[in-house]
Amino acid sequence: MSYAQVYGQWQQDPEGFWLSAAGGIDWVKKPSKALDDSRAPLYEWFTDAQVNTCWNAVDRHVIAGRGKQPAIIHDSPVTATRHVITYAELQDRVSRLAGALKAKGITKGDRVIIYMPMVPEALEAMLACARLGAIHSVVFGGFAAHELAVRIDDCTPKAIIAASCGIEPSRVVHYKPLLDSAIDQATHKPDFCVIFQREQEVARLIPGRDHAWHEFQYGVTPADCTPVEGNHPAYILYTSGTTGAPKGVVRPTAGHLVALNWTMRAIYNCGAGDVFWAASDVGWVVGHSYICYAPLIAGCTTVVYEGKPVGTPDAAAFWRVINEHKVRSFFTAPTALRAIKRDDPEGKLVPKLPTLQALYLAGERADPDTIHWAQRHLNVPVIDHWWQTETGYAIAANPLGIEHLPVKIGSPSVPMPGFDVQVLDEGGHPVSPGTLGAIAVKLPLPPGTLPTLWNAEDRFIKGYLSHFPGYYETGDAGYVDADGYLYIMARTDDVINVAGHRLSTGAMEEVLAAHKDVAECAVIGVADDLKGQSPLGFLCLNKGSMRPHAEVVKECVQLVRDQIGPVADFKRAVVVDRLPKTRSGKILRGTMVKIADGQPWKMPATIDDPAILDEITSALQGLGLAKA
Ligand code: COA
Ligand code: AMP
Repeated sequence: MSYAQVYGQWQQDPEGFWLSAAGGIDWVKKPSKALDDSRAPLYEWFTDAQVNTCWNAVDRHVIAGRGKQPAIIHDSPVTATRHVITYAELQDRVSRLAGALKAKGITKGDRVIIYMPMVPEALEAMLACARLGAIHSVVFGGFAAHELAVRIDDCTPKAIIAASCGIEPSRVVHYKPLLDSAIDQATHKPDFCVIFQREQEVARLIPGRDHAWHEFQYGVTPADCTPVEGNHPAYILYTSGTTGAPKGVVRPTAGHLVALNWTMRAIYNCGAGDVFWAASDVGWVVGHSYICYAPLIAGCTTVVYEGKPVGTPDAAAFWRVINEHKVRSFFTAPTALRAIKRDDPEGKLVPKLPTLQALYLAGERADPDTIHWAQRHLNVPVIDHWWQTETGYAIAANPLGIEHLPVKIGSPSVPMPGFDVQVLDEGGHPVSPGTLGAIAVKLPLPPGTLPTLWNAEDRFIKGYLSHFPGYYETGDAGYVDADGYLYIMARTDDVINVAGHRLSTGAMEEVLAAHKDVAECAVIGVADDLKGQSPLGFLCLNKGSMRPHAEVVKECVQLVRDQIGPVADFKRAVVVDRLPKTRSGKILRGTMVKIADGQPWKMPATIDDPAILDEITSALQGLGLAKA
């Protein structure tokens, strides 16, 4: 069948389409129907089913005779180790960890925070929660203690599972002191913590609260899989929004299983026995969906890579992993390829890659230069696909397992079944092809996408469903061409994308505003050759502040690092007298971005004082930006 036929099949009978896809999952009780629209515009899928995620990701493959097949390959250039875990070993390890958690009182519906680097134990912790029906929330290691504390207070975990440390090429990341500080800062306190001690740094445990990973599991009875309802939350993953309060995206169990399983064949053209590698981090949605769950649900071998695209040891690291582990489908962020291209512009370090079928890119706009470089040197289809934490899988892609559609550089191709994507004007009317607008998806969203935000249904409705009634607002702007290909051009909110990491400028502004000398501030994302965007702060100091500007800037940079974390990559700020605003007081961030990037811009009709833009321009020029 062609892509058009498959998409048409879904359009004609969406429920039939997803019920048929549900055939790829082992159910304790099969769903009698697909969609539950009784609370529209809030929708749920497969609500009356009973199922367990861990069973589908682990146990069923052992029963099917795949026990000796590698489930996880841990390839860690930062520790110079490799480790293979078969499906049978994974079943054993996960059921023991689940048994230990159960013995300490973790049951269905309890929240468990996981704060771990790229080690197989992170996946095992996720799967152990899934085995018990506990709801995990993984927090990325590049976040500071404060961000972890915010998440602890929002999802009130009964337990936290963490590693003693993570390893960045330049330093050891001390997870345990960050965890201790987060628990101190949080109002909610977990009952207990489980610490995976790494030999690179063994952490001090707090008696009574902390348990060492191995000791914790000694002598326990392994736990069986607990069936949960189809709409039971599988996990909560916090993502950046417009304000400093992160949004807890809820992932429903059954839809997640059905949709991810479908994508593995349709989009990634992989099945049982194939080796799949997503070079991301378990702390991001790509890591949840395509390092942990989808490849395991499909019976593939997943690669857990603890390293970087460059510097561990060089720009050939990715190609070494692909050849050594016989990777068939490889997924990374454009920024990682840009880093490789910068070190190896001629592609001299790229060997023949006989097992590689395709390269998939997502997380940010894939620039044409990077795609061309990859096409030229890797000799495989380069597939840009567009998705969000909220959806958990691709909204638009080139579905290689169905049909390899012609690639149009700059476009993540076409909508996937389940997504009726429309480009709307401010009034919510669809615009004609080629016209820029807000990208929205007609409700209901397909299985596996967010049904709500954790503890924040009103915020979900207000933030995603209210602006364009009957649609989910993606927060991205772009257009569709005459062939139905989508082009994702920019965000419509204050979210920026730095090295494939989604960050909130609003959250950074909240931190800067708390500095004692800062009266007012703004953060924008300026174009960056390597990271796509890079945050830049504008600081207006309190009247009468005599502090040297360089000192305040340095303190502000440190403050963002301490409060949000190194991942914010906030390294630049300038002191200005005033910020450009509309007459109603709205800061003209969009105009500042255009000036910084040296793009054409128009004087906003509503600007309060046009002269301020001259001051901003010269401040930006002082940083080497705003070049005509
Ligand atoms: N734990 C702790 N700190 C982390 C971290 C983690 N898991 N990941 C990144 N950091 C730190 C880095 O060490 C760096 O700290 P520094 O300011 O002390 O140097 C900071 O956060 C910024 O990191 P990053 O933006 O990643 O920059 P980098 O210079 O270290 O690496 C790239 C640049 C392009 C190689 C890297 O960003 C990359 O591989 N990006 C791909 C991202 C990706 O896969 N995203 C997933 C979406 S699909
Ligand atoms: P995240 O939730 O971290 O996955 O970030 C989602 C956001 O990243 C999207 O809303 C887009 O703004 C951006 N994004 C992801 N994939 C792409 C892509 N292929 N092209 C353009 N932007 C993308």
